[in-house]
Amino acid sequence: MTAVIRGIGVCVPPNIVTNDDISKTLDTSDLWIRERTGIERRYMVDGEISTMDLAIKAGLRAIESAQTNKIDMVIVATTSPERLCPAVAPEVADKLGLKGVAAYDITSACAGFVYGMATAKGFVESGIADTVLLIGAEAFTKFVNKDDRTTWPIFGDGAGAMVIGKGEPDELGAIGQFDLGADGSLSDALCTHAGGARQRVKDSLGQHAQSQAYYLSMNGRVVYENAVSQMTQSSLKAVRQNDLTIEELDWMIGHQANIRILQTVAYELDLPECKVASNIADHGNTLTASIPLLLNDYAHSNQLKPGQKLLITAFGAGFSWGSTVVTWPDLRTYPKEWN
Ligand code: COA
Repeated sequence: MTAVIRGIGVCVPPNIVTNDDISKTLDTSDLWIRERTGIERRYMVDGEISTMDLAIKAGLRAIESAQTNKIDMVIVATTSPERLCPAVAPEVADKLGLKGVAAYDITSACAGFVYGMATAKGFVESGIADTVLLIGAEAFTKFVNKDDRTTWPIFGDGAGAMVIGKGEPDELGAIGQFDLGADGSLSDALCTHAGGARQRVKDSLGQHAQSQAYYLSMNGRVVYENAVSQMTQSSLKAVRQNDLTIEELDWMIGHQANIRILQTVAYELDLPECKVASNIADHGNTLTASIPLLLNDYAHSNQLKPGQKLLITAFGAGFSWGSTVVTWPDLRTYPKEWN
């Protein structure tokens, strides 16, 4: 069995910007841009259209192209995320009528679609997913400075999508092996400096932006209720898929967001509370770091032993969630302290 391309769809925003349009506001020319880059015009978002709108349209067309609605994972590769948090893929999936399927974003800039194909192939061939909708979507011009003649002329917006499902290696559309690589030593050569953790958004006076819009907002009760129900359902599915029972589990390694959420999930699963691993007291919610930190803490203190069966389950913004079962290996562990 191998991963095979089953459908394709694309979408661009309606607004076309020519080199002459750009030359009206920047010290450049149609000739310079054409001679140096080959670009004559580009589609650019304006007004309300954003990454998600393009992703949805491309995704819909790819689904139509594949003539299937049996998608069980949506991956969006984007360099222009709709919001810093959460990933856009869950919302795209919802809008495509795929609410509830696995959905998340990947970031690998212009290599993102190829990385996404490799990721989708891995999911399909390992049996984690049957059919993946992979979307590459960008409203990147929103992140490019209109006053910078060295960058503004060279980017455009749009989205493309592919449905990737199971097939045979000799089938047309079969996806072959990949070579992937990266060189982080040159990351400054092509980057967006601010807006991430290293340099937060600043206002025109150079002060950290004061608006709440630049910071996380949360409806705690809605998150709490969904965390409990989705982690419970997802855990049950994962345990079942791995031919196990709740009684056979040694530990629940749950994302450390709130001890009461973990206790309630354990209660719903009929899992004794003594099997709920937790280090939230020492760490709070460390997002993507929470599960590995918990595993390391428990393994390093010998509470977690080789051969023990772990339910790993997480829930977060998106909303998105995931669970699996792992038999803990015999690993050397190290202290978590900086020094
Ligand atoms: N119009 C007119 N002049 C421009 C210009 C523009 N849009 N952009 C840059 N220039 C000027 C520069 O200021 C420079 O002037 P100077 O000699 O007085 O300093 C001159 O043109 C040459 O600049 P340079 O950067 O050497 O031009 P180039 O031939 O390398 O072409 C790119 C510039 C950006 C087109 C080219 O380097 C390129 O395509 N790089 C790869 C970019 C890319 O692919 N990015 C995405 C990766 S996923």
